[in-house]
Amino acid sequence: METRRALVTGAASGIGAACAQRLAADGVHVVAVDFDEAGLETLGALDGVETVVADLSDLERLADLPTDVDILVNNAGVQQVAPVEQFPPERFSYILRLMLEAPFRLIRQTLPHMYGAGWGRVVNISSVHGLRASPFKAAYVAAKHGLEGLSKVVALEGAAHGVTSNCVNPAYVRTPLVTAQLADQAATHGLSESEVLDKVLLEPVAVKRLIEPDEVAELVAMLCGPASASITGSSFVLDGGWTAH
Ligand SMILES: NC(=O)c1ccc[n+]([C@@H]2O[C@H](COP(=O)([O-])OP(=O)(O)OC[C@H]3O[C@@H](n4cnc5c(N)ncnc54)[C@H](O)[C@@H]3O)[C@@H](O)[C@H]2O)c1
Repeated sequence: METRRALVTGAASGIGAACAQRLAADGVHVVAVDFDEAGLETLGALDGVETVVADLSDLERLADLPTDVDILVNNAGVQQVAPVEQFPPERFSYILRLMLEAPFRLIRQTLPHMYGAGWGRVVNISSVHGLRASPFKAAYVAAKHGLEGLSKVVALEGAAHGVTSNCVNPAYVRTPLVTAQLADQAATHGLSESEVLDKVLLEPVAVKRLIEPDEVAELVAMLCGPASASITGSSFVLDGGWTAH
C-alpha cells in the first residue's frame, strides 16, 4: 500500500477522518479534502497526509483537486430532515450535488489515472439509506440510492482496468452528523437524547449501539487492501442487523 495515493472527501470529521487515518496507517499517501479548514488541521499533522480545503458542492472547483490518485473515498455528506412537501428545493439540489454529482465528477476525473496504472479502488460511503428508505429524508435517500447505481456502473466499466467500485453501508455511526440529529429529534419529540437514541435511532437495529467510525474505516481499508481484487459492484452493510428484517 506504500505506493498508493488516496483522496478522501469529507475528511475533517467522523467517518472521513477515520478513513484517512486508517489508510495513512497502511502507508497510503492521503489527500484529505474538506471545507472545514480547522477540522483538517489535526489530520494534516499526521505523516503522509496532505490537506486541501475545498467546498465539494462547488462542482467547477473539483477540477482543481488531484486526479493522480489510486484510491478514491467518496464520503462527504450532510443530512436534512423534512417532509417531502416542505423539503426546500434548493437544499434537495445541494444534497444531490454534494453527495451524487461530486462523487460522479471525482470518479470521472480520477479513472484515467487508475486505468493507466491498471489498478484502482473507488469506495463510496453510502448508508443503509442507500438500500432502505426512511420518512423525511428524501434528498439523503435519493442521493444514496443514486450513489449505489453509480458505484455499480463504475464497477462494470472499471473491471477490465483493474479498478473496483463498492459501497459501504453503515447504520448510525457515532459522528457529529448523528449527534446533531439526536439533539434535533430530542427537541422535536420532547424526549431526552438517550431516549431518541434508544427509541428512534436504534429501534430498527439488532445490535443496540452506535457504530464507531473506526469500524467503518476498517472495512474501507479491507476494500482497498491486497485481497480486494474480485470484490466489486457490491454494497457492504455494516448495520447491526437493520437490513436483516
Ligand atoms: N454517521 C452516520 O450515522 C452515517 C451512517 C451512514 C452513512 N453515513 C455517511 O458517511 C459520510 C460521512 O458522514 P459522517 O457521519 O462522518 O459526518 P460528519 O458530519 O462527521 O462528516 C462529514 C464531513 O463532510 C464535510 N462536508 C460536508 N459538506 C461539505 C462540502 N460541501 N464540502 C466539503 N466538505 C464537506 C464536513 O465538513 C465533515 O467534515 C456521509 O456521506 C454520510 O452520509 C453516515
